Amino acid sequence: MTDRLPQHIAIIMDGNGRWARSQDLPRGAGHERGVKVAEHAYRACHERRVPHLTLYAFSYSNWRRPDEEVTMLMRLCGEFAETNRDELVERNIRMRVIGDLEELPTPTRHRIEGTLEATEACRSMTLTLALGYGCRNDLVGAVRAIAAHAQAGLLLPEEIDEDSIRSFMTTSELPDPDLIIRTGGEKRLSDFLLFESAMSELYFSHTMWPEFTEEILDKAISAYGRRQRRFGRTPEQLAAEA
Ligand code: FPP
Repeated sequence: MTDRLPQHIAIIMDGNGRWARSQDLPRGAGHERGVKVAEHAYRACHERRVPHLTLYAFSYSNWRRPDEEVTMLMRLCGEFAETNRDELVERNIRMRVIGDLEELPTPTRHRIEGTLEATEACRSMTLTLALGYGCRNDLVGAVRAIAAHAQAGLLLPEEIDEDSIRSFMTTSELPDPDLIIRTGGEKRLSDFLLFESAMSELYFSHTMWPEFTEEILDKAISAYGRRQRRFGRTPEQLAAEA
C-alpha cells in the first residue's frame, strides 16, 4: 500500500448491464448487485481513511434510459440512502449529493434528504452521490446564476474567476478529485466532474462494476501513489522543492 493516499476518489461505476447479460440475468440484477458493491466500496474507503468518495450513481443522461430502468435506479438510490443511514451515522460518514436533487421522484428525494439530514454533522468521511448529475448541466446552472447575479448588479464581469464559477456549481464544497476510477473497460469520463478533474489521475479497470473488489481499489490507489503529479510544473522544479 502507498503512503500517498488520494484525498478524494471518484468512481464511475460502469458495467452493471454487461455483467448481468454475461450471467443471463436481467439488467436490473446488475444494478442490484452494483448497489451492494457500492456499499463495500464506501466501507473500504472509510477503512483506508480516504476523506472523500464520490459515486456516479445516476447521470443526467441516464434520464434517457427506458422508464422501467430509470424507475428501478431511482428506487435503488432511495433504498441505498435509507438502508445505509444508520451505518453511515455509526461510521461518522456524511452523505452529500451533487446534481439535481429537485428532479428526482419525491419518494427517492425524501429518502435521500432523510440521510443528508441524519449525517449532516458526521465528519470522518464524505460520501457524495452524483444523482441526475452531469458536469455540463452543472456548468449551465452556474452560468445562469452568474448571469442573474451580474444582472442584479451583485457581480462585475471582471470579478468572475475560477473560484466564483466553482461557487455556483453543485460541487462547490467538494475538493477536486485526486483519482477517478472507471470500471467496465471504457476509457471516457461521460460528463463526470469534467471541470473538477482537470488535474486528476485516471484509472481504468476492465472489471465490470458488480465484480469490483477491494483488491482493485488498492491497485488503483497504488497506481495513483506511483504517479508524479506536476500541476503544470517540470519534474526538476518538483525535485528542487522536495
Ligand atoms: C452503469 O452501468 C451504471 C449505472 C448507470 C448506474 C450505477 C448505479 C448503481 C451501481 C446503483 C445505484 C448506486 C448507488 C450507490 C445508489 P450500465 O447499466 O451502464 O452498464 P453497461 O454499460 O454494462 O450497460
